[in-house]
Amino acid sequence: MIVVTGASGQLGRLVIESLLKRLPASEIVAAVRNPDKVADLAARGVQVRVADYDQPASLAAAFKGADKLLLISASEVGRRMPQHRTVIDAARAAQVGLLAYTSILHADTSPLPLAAEHKETENLIRASGLPAVILRNGWYTENYTAGIPAALQYGVLLGSAGQGRIASAARADYAEAAATVLTQDKQAGRIYELAGDASYTLGQLADEISRQSGKAVAYRDLPEVEFKAALLGAGLPDFLATLLAESDVGASKGGLFDDGRQLSALIGRSTTPLSELVKLALA
Ligand SMILES: NC(=O)c1ccc[n+]([C@@H]2O[C@H](COP(=O)([O-])OP(=O)(O)OC[C@H]3O[C@@H](n4cnc5c(N)ncnc54)[C@H](OP(=O)(O)O)[C@@H]3O)[C@@H](O)[C@H]2O)c1
Repeated sequence: MIVVTGASGQLGRLVIESLLKRLPASEIVAAVRNPDKVADLAARGVQVRVADYDQPASLAAAFKGADKLLLISASEVGRRMPQHRTVIDAARAAQVGLLAYTSILHADTSPLPLAAEHKETENLIRASGLPAVILRNGWYTENYTAGIPAALQYGVLLGSAGQGRIASAARADYAEAAATVLTQDKQAGRIYELAGDASYTLGQLADEISRQSGKAVAYRDLPEVEFKAALLGAGLPDFLATLLAESDVGASKGGLFDDGRQLSALIGRSTTPLSELVKLALA
């Protein structure tokens, strides 16, 4: 039995879809805070269990009988450590056969401030003694394509990534990698650096948006404080504006680049090209 936390989220849902292509639904558990959100999965035969990272008792019940568990990292930056610790403790108590964790690309050396909690979580997992596999996920291309409507509206794509190359991939690519690892043997002890096959600068992303939309979009590189102010001005909450601006600066230092092609090797196909995700966002 394979248990997936965060199964109501965007990545989690894609992992479940990918698992459904490989396993009977009755062997898959969607572990979620709110079962109503995944009623569609329950209707397809997926087991739904309540699992809240802040409620240890819920995790003990959710992980019962799990051969393998995918911990999808929690989404509240700054609160992840107590939450991940609770999940790891529950996984150990349930004696899961394999714990898989969605970390961040190059967690041990990444210049992105976001990486600190992932590195600490990897250390906790190592110290737990659980058989574990680490999926160091790179950036989702969707993080950038979400900004396409605003870029088209103003004719400008803003960022702080400079000439940093970004080897992002689609959420669906990372989800397929997770499902592959969860359904293959001999994964314990492995660390995967997962990134897109090709990389681009934000200037090249602006060019691609212009090419496909027929509207001129230029990339404007801003200092971190100005980019953050622009994001706040666009209505983003402070934590998200901070996170995106800091991450772009990390990208300018190479933090979102990798050319090892471990993701395509794992999923047995090329990663989704940037052009395809831009097309999808424009449709
Ligand atoms: N690589 C990247 O570019 C990137 C970008 C953004 C985020 N991330 C990380 O990757 C994770 C998955 O990405 P995503 O796009 O799927 O995010 P998402 O759509 O926001 O999904 C987050 C999932 O985590 C669940 N969750 C949050 N807090 C929880 C708690 N206390 N207990 C149990 N479940 C909880 C959410 O449950 P509810 O449905 O109940 O809210 C949801 O299912 C994120 O959580 C974040 O750590 C990575």
